[in-house]
Amino acid sequence: MDKIKVEICVGTTCFILGASELQELERFLPEGLRDKVDITGATCLGMCKDDNYGQAPFVRVGNRIVSNASISSVIEQIEEQLKHR
Ligand code: FES
Repeated sequence: MDKIKVEICVGTTCFILGASELQELERFLPEGLRDKVDITGATCLGMCKDDNYGQAPFVRVGNRIVSNASISSVIEQIEEQLKHR
């Protein structure tokens, strides 16, 4: 099974609004999820410039954007996507 790609935006806006904390995501991942995701950092994903996407920080999980992302909301989204595989 392909891993779910998780891109944490570390552009300036996202970083200021909390992405620095999100970089700790890997540490907080439940044991069973660790080998199912591929976590990378990304420069500005472009969502901070578009009001339709909501509030920074942004994380892309697979093909979904998580706005106002926190470690727990990103983990929830990963679990959600694994359910639908
Ligand atoms: S800085 Fe994160 S989307 Fe622009």
